[in-house]
Amino acid sequence: MRKIVSLLLSFGMIFTLAACGQSAASEKQAEIEMETEASESVSTEEQEADVSTKTLVVYFSCTGTTELVAEYITEILGADSYQIVPENPYTEADLAYYTNGRADQEQDDPDARPAISGGVANMDAYDTIILGFPIWHGQAPRIISTFLESYDFSGKTIVPFCTSHSSGVGSSADNLQSLCAESVEWRDGKRFESGVSKESVQKWIEEIGIE
Ligand SMILES: Cc1cc2nc3c(=O)[nH]c(=O)nc-3n(C[C@H](O)[C@H](O)[C@H](O)COP(=O)(O)O)c2cc1C
Repeated sequence: MRKIVSLLLSFGMIFTLAACGQSAASEKQAEIEMETEASESVSTEEQEADVSTKTLVVYFSCTGTTELVAEYITEILGADSYQIVPENPYTEADLAYYTNGRADQEQDDPDARPAISGGVANMDAYDTIILGFPIWHGQAPRIISTFLESYDFSGKTIVPFCTSHSSGVGSSADNLQSLCAESVEWRDGKRFESGVSKESVQKWIEEIGIE
């Protein structure tokens, strides 16, 4: 009889220990699952925080004036930049205005679309385009129309700026806007004179709030 009782007691102890072991194991498993869930949500938040706005400074320049302003903007913002390079470069004779030269003829023809050499491979990566050009007969050079018609800027912001001898932005930016999808947000255009200081450009960047 004593043997039977001690046998029953031993079975009881083994059962209790096994049950304890099992609940400890499932507690540990639950702990691991919670930790995994927590670390997944942190990494998702981190990913979301990492999706920052990206700006591309695009410019066309034949005699360096617009290029210098574009370089200032690129440096100030630490942005990427892209120069619109014509497939057929403009010679001095092409640029001599009021001579009925190449630039004059292109500006006379709203449908002229001078070809661009190369392009931006990853336009999707940018949400803001700062677009610089010289004023040619009151308008943007037709190669800017070629550029705008080469990509889908839907949902992006375009900030136009120009340089000129004396003319303002005038209707140039409005005419460019009409070439783009309605969902493109066009900011007011800004004209810079030749020799503008980097500080003045920085002031404009701060005013428009582009980062
Ligand atoms: C074909 C042509 C037309 C121009 N038309 C004008 C104009 O209408 N108004 C103006 O103020 N400057 C005009 N300019 C001067 C340029 O806008 C100015 O020199 C500009 O800053 C040049 O920029 P870039 O050095 O980046 O090429 C014209 C220049 C060229 C070549």
